[in-house]
Amino acid sequence: MTFPIEKFEHLRTPFYYYDTQLLDQTLQAIQAELLPNYHVHYAVKACTHPTVLKHIKQAGLGTDCVSGGEIQASIDAGFPADKIVFAGVGKSDWEIELALKHGIFCFNVESIPELEVINQLAGEQGKVARVAFRINPNVGAHTHEYTTTGLSENKFGIAMEHMVDTIQQCQQMPNVECIGLHFHIGSQILEMDDFYTLCLRINELQEELECFGIVLPHINVGGGLGIDYDEPNQHPITDFKAYFATFHRYLQLRKGQQLHFELGRAIVGQCGSLISRVLYVKQGDVKKFAIIDAGMTDLIRPALYGALHQIENLSSHEGEEAYDVVGPICESSDVFAKNYRLPKTKRGDLIALRSAGAYGQIMASQYNCRPLPVGYASEEI
Ligand code: LLP
Repeated sequence: MTFPIEKFEHLRTPFYYYDTQLLDQTLQAIQAELLPNYHVHYAVKACTHPTVLKHIKQAGLGTDCVSGGEIQASIDAGFPADKIVFAGVGKSDWEIELALKHGIFCFNVESIPELEVINQLAGEQGKVARVAFRINPNVGAHTHEYTTTGLSENKFGIAMEHMVDTIQQCQQMPNVECIGLHFHIGSQILEMDDFYTLCLRINELQEELECFGIVLPHINVGGGLGIDYDEPNQHPITDFKAYFATFHRYLQLRKGQQLHFELGRAIVGQCGSLISRVLYVKQGDVKKFAIIDAGMTDLIRPALYGALHQIENLSSHEGEEAYDVVGPICESSDVFAKNYRLPKTKRGDLIALRSAGAYGQIMASQYNCRPLPVGYASEEI
């Protein structure tokens, strides 16, 4: 990925930069692997920049939402309501009502109390809501504990052993229709073995349900496919071939069954960078600090998950030194990298924090009364 540095010069930092050419190439790589019964819903939570959404919509994807705000953002971006799925353990009444009003494709339901509320609110609108049950498959994922979701100890989903009972309860309710099963085991998963294990659990469950005469038309395997944070230039597009092939090979779909995916990070992660300027280089007693104008308020992943985003000095290419690259926020955790080797760095240099397209701008906060970072798509500057 190359950066149009001359165009950055007049822009106020920090800001997010989205390379939509890479985004389009990523979307094409996905489309190349899809079978006719495969449907991808972009997990809007990763990034809602309007131009990014526009490109994703143009590629024909739907969206996966976890709030009324995300449903609204999807509708505003022109995604058809019948390609929107709505997940989340705690859906508020107004969010359910909004989803019903637009006639979204499906609610991913996480508990019986939630199902009862959807049934009631759908009844008030004279509608029948399509629902899928989110199943907690008790499958671990080799990822950070904060991004593992498919274990029994996690708050998400309904245990597999309650599924028959849950579906039967649903069949008794007049304003909900159960159309599918939903799973999501975690995020930033690079081991295809984890998705393989998920396939086996789904096969098991489908067999069990069949004994009770239950075959549902939709299976949603969630998202979670990871990206290469260590080497974004070598692997700008994640291995979609291996990912989709895993489901193709190991998931036993029934006749006519549609398979849904909810990818977020793998779609937008590599196309976004956080662009910042070096404010000061400070020689401490034992180390050198490069203090940049972006902080944990702009990109919280390092502080929250200990994530490392590769750092590039876009202005300097001479020499090499080790720096602790830190932000200006009054928190010791406001560190992007320790002892990181960069070309000799000075005040005013432009810095790119790579692989920040997913869960970057969208997780920004205004702590310290800082303005939220803006985002520019490559065609906008
Ligand atoms: N579907 C469901 C039900 C989810 O909970 C998520 C992400 C996705 C799909 C999309 O997952 P992806 O394909 O992006 O891995 N803030 C964290 C990631 C949290 C992910 C939450 N759920 C991070 O910065 O790593």
